Amino acid sequence: MAIERADGLSSKDVVGIATLSPGEIQLILETAEELLEVARRPIKKVPALRGMTVVNLFMEPSTRTRFSFEVAEKRLSADTLNFSASSSSVSKGETLFDTARNLMAMAPDFIVIRHPNSGAPHRLAGVVPASIINAGDGINEHPTQALLDAFTMRLHFGDLRGLKVVIAGDIRHSRVARSNAYLLTKMGAEVRFVAPASLLPVDVETLGVQAFRRLEPALEGANVVMMLRIQLERQKKINFPSMREYYDFFALTEERLAMAAPGAKVMHPGPMNRGVEIDSLVADGKQSVILEQVTNGVAIRMAILYLLAGGRSDSASDS
Ligand code: CP
Repeated sequence: MAIERADGLSSKDVVGIATLSPGEIQLILETAEELLEVARRPIKKVPALRGMTVVNLFMEPSTRTRFSFEVAEKRLSADTLNFSASSSSVSKGETLFDTARNLMAMAPDFIVIRHPNSGAPHRLAGVVPASIINAGDGINEHPTQALLDAFTMRLHFGDLRGLKVVIAGDIRHSRVARSNAYLLTKMGAEVRFVAPASLLPVDVETLGVQAFRRLEPALEGANVVMMLRIQLERQKKINFPSMREYYDFFALTEERLAMAAPGAKVMHPGPMNRGVEIDSLVADGKQSVILEQVTNGVAIRMAILYLLAGGRSDSASDS
């Protein structure tokens, strides 16, 4: 049975996929599809967030997510303020809550937050009136990444139901893998996690996915193969013998990709480590949709901002 889209988002915040219903996910995906058209206009701007202020609070490095939010905010005509840990008073010892309280004194409507601690956006959402959007919290969730991944899959396959999606790499430390598992299982896709035992999450049994210790059997019939980098910055020790061995057993090569379903799409949230989890011939090959993911991220982030703005905005597609 088709998933019925919700009338609106039930919370003032988007802190994770875990707290979104299938209907809300459907609403975000369908709204993003309508907003894709804005990027094709000569003047890529609509007035939906005119007069509203968005604070981008990034306490961890980011290229794609940060720029994608900024582009989305500008396309919706919002005023934007950018804070990073290194250039703000966080580097002088100020806590997240003192930073947020000071930001709230400037009355922003939205705070987009990336933070190294799992749960930081959720705690912030409980104490400030602004809408909080999670741009990645520790090893917990990266909801806008999972939404843009699902959006990219929908554009290629039409429906997420029944899709066979392989997610391979350092799953234990990946907020992208966790958000994708929540989203794809809610929407009826089949998710296969692939990693050495040391890089699988301890709660893998609870996520509704199939776990594999080798890539080859998981690739059989796969429609999407999503590769993840090894997050060395989140590990005290390397959890496998060597990078060379990791490449030999777990990298996506052209030979291995040929084991997936014909026309399978290759995805990666970035940043990529070529020659570690993915071969350059695959990353740049005709089955790769890695740069499409980046393009689609803007539409997803526009949709979330627009929907959270709710009745406060003009029509999303007004010019
Ligand atoms: N996908 C992703 O989160 O990339 P960045 O770390 O560059 O934002």
